[in-house]
Amino acid sequence: MTIATNTLRPLATGFNVYKIREDFPILKQQVHGKPLVYLDNAATTQKPQVVIDTLVDYYRSDNSNIHRGVHTLSERATEAYEQARASVKSFLNARDVRGIIFVRGTTEAINLIAQTYGRTHVGSGDEVIISAMEHHSNIVPWQILCRQQQAHLRVVPVNDDGELELDELERLLGPKTKLIAIAHVSNALGTINPVREIVAVAHARNIPVLVDGAQACPHLDVDVTDLNCDFYAFSGHKVYGPTGIGVLYGKPELLDQMPPYQGGGDMIASVTFEETLYNRLPYKFEAGTPDIAGAIGLGAAIEYMKAVGLENIAAHEHHLLSYATEALSSISGLRLIGTAKEKAAVLSFVLDGIHAHDIGTVLDQAGIAIRTGHHCAQPLMQRFGVPATARASLGLYNTAEEIDALVAGIHSVREVFA
Ligand SMILES: Cc1ncc(COP(=O)(O)O)c(C=O)c1O
Repeated sequence: MTIATNTLRPLATGFNVYKIREDFPILKQQVHGKPLVYLDNAATTQKPQVVIDTLVDYYRSDNSNIHRGVHTLSERATEAYEQARASVKSFLNARDVRGIIFVRGTTEAINLIAQTYGRTHVGSGDEVIISAMEHHSNIVPWQILCRQQQAHLRVVPVNDDGELELDELERLLGPKTKLIAIAHVSNALGTINPVREIVAVAHARNIPVLVDGAQACPHLDVDVTDLNCDFYAFSGHKVYGPTGIGVLYGKPELLDQMPPYQGGGDMIASVTFEETLYNRLPYKFEAGTPDIAGAIGLGAAIEYMKAVGLENIAAHEHHLLSYATEALSSISGLRLIGTAKEKAAVLSFVLDGIHAHDIGTVLDQAGIAIRTGHHCAQPLMQRFGVPATARASLGLYNTAEEIDALVAGIHSVREVFA
């Protein structure tokens, strides 16, 4: 099936994907003699020139340690770092910069909550609730916590479309439930979970909610104040920013009561051998020299996304997702895994009789980068009875022509393995 691609070009907003692509130098290359078609955005996104320039400029002109120096470079670095925090606050529509903590990424953010809030609020016999569609980084930290505290992990099932069974979630809630940790968007299915509703149901029982926003922030206009979640985590490298930097948002009143995650420089107000007084928020949770350049680069990435327009990005990707879903669904022997009504731009699929790794290898020869495997969601693969899927995940720079290339590539995979 081919839809005339020019029907996809003009969006009402005037968003021009071909102009956007000019901002991403990496996309100009060829792979195996073919133009690169990069469809592995859920793993990591490419970086616009402005982010690359920001990193280089920082190291060339401003590099210094932050918060400690009185000299000019240190003041410049500190100002840029704190400006990045303000960008994140506005990106998430958080009320207070004190609730914006720089961490290494989503994984570290979740581990931080498990080992601080979790260690102080989850006791023997208590329960933590996650879902069957979680990434390993929103499973394993809770398993570790539950083992430490003799608590239990409870799992909300998903239906055949890859949607959460919300009745089951409500059924699982009880006096022993101490926390819900749930993905906003599934990396393996694309499902967008009704986080606002889940938070409302949980809060009616005084249960806090942590949201894994790793796959939501690249695609949705996230508003933590409206969601009213207690904690929210995301990674810089999935929102066109650098690797090694991410964000934990928390309600300051909860963060204030929590013990620190790590001890060291910058997280203290005063130290004697007898006693240490901790620094105020958010510094209490930022021990040691942080990834200063990474944070500043993340700030640049967020400003880039805002300049393109979060609603333009969402509309463009929604448009492409519909086009790709229709195109892939028409390929015989292809089964989409994840057909939720509310979806972000992720297409997981299996092909009859062909292993996902073989799909990925043949597509790579055509210059097409997708991801194959269990996507760090092995329990979800078991739920769908597959060892692995092939996953094409879209970003703001992808085009309908690239979807056409993917479809043609899948047809050649079928020919190779016929
Ligand atoms: C839903 C989800 N949660 C968490 C993570 C972990 O993110 P990071 O490896 O950047 O810490 C990922 C990464 O793919 C993800 O997709």
